[in-house]
Amino acid sequence: MSVPSTQDLQIFLDIATEAALAAGVILKDYCGQLTQIEEKGRPGDLVTVADKAAEAAILQVLERHLPEHAILAEESGQHGDLSNSYLWAIDPLDGTTNYAHQYPFFAASIGLLYNGQPIVGAIYDPSHDDLFRAAKGLGATCNRRPIQVSQTQTLKDSLLVTGFAYDRRETIDNNYAEFCHLTHLTHGVRRGGAASIDLAYVACGRLDGYWERGLSPWDLAAGVIIVEEAGGKVTAYDTSPFDIRSGHILATNNKIHQELSDRLVKIQPLEQFEPV
Ligand code: IPD
Ligand code: CA
Ligand code: CA
Repeated sequence: MSVPSTQDLQIFLDIATEAALAAGVILKDYCGQLTQIEEKGRPGDLVTVADKAAEAAILQVLERHLPEHAILAEESGQHGDLSNSYLWAIDPLDGTTNYAHQYPFFAASIGLLYNGQPIVGAIYDPSHDDLFRAAKGLGATCNRRPIQVSQTQTLKDSLLVTGFAYDRRETIDNNYAEFCHLTHLTHGVRRGGAASIDLAYVACGRLDGYWERGLSPWDLAAGVIIVEEAGGKVTAYDTSPFDIRSGHILATNNKIHQELSDRLVKIQPLEQFEPV
């Protein structure tokens, strides 16, 4: 398939927005009404009827407008041929744990990859009615106003965010050491509980940097292009090029990128962590 034109990107962005807002309506409707919450496998990895209903609404929008594109959806998996140049990576409810506890920090995240690179993203946080959007070369917005990353120059003046993957009890590479270390060196490290919003907050300057491991393409696709279009930088921990399949990300306002990377690559995991 041919390289997307500016007009294509605008159309894809509008479709991503329609899908994110449709999911948002469903998430709002179910919030606080859940009678059943299932665990998907690992302890704490939850799924609810809201995840599934929101995903169905997103799929309906994408398949109606763009039946020729492939989709990777968190709850239902692969739709179409994943080797397609255009692949949508969708998380109908990012922040399910927050949602299940009625903690208002969750979003629908809709990203489009072209040959593996994020080119369009829409993230809708219904609790705050925040709609973050971007497309390659077209800039990033929150609620249709342009956004930019922060001006914070140094790690010591920064506010960061991270997260802990569901395999945290099974591996010593669980980010606990990094969290302690960077809490010591900065104004603080938040744990938002929704990777897409963590990225969106870096994009709009509410946070200065974000790192995490163990993520999936649907957690990252939309947020990555929004950070990049807001003037931020996205790489692997060691500043090598970002690879969405790796599950690792370092996303910052650019200014603190090298300093944060230098710290991250040096930190050794805590040998063991057993709660007393
Ligand atoms: C999770 C959230 C969380 C991150 C986890 C993700 P989910 O997604 O983004 O912030 O730390 O690694 O899996 O399960 O709520 O869609
Ligand atoms: Ca997620
Ligand atoms: Ca999810």
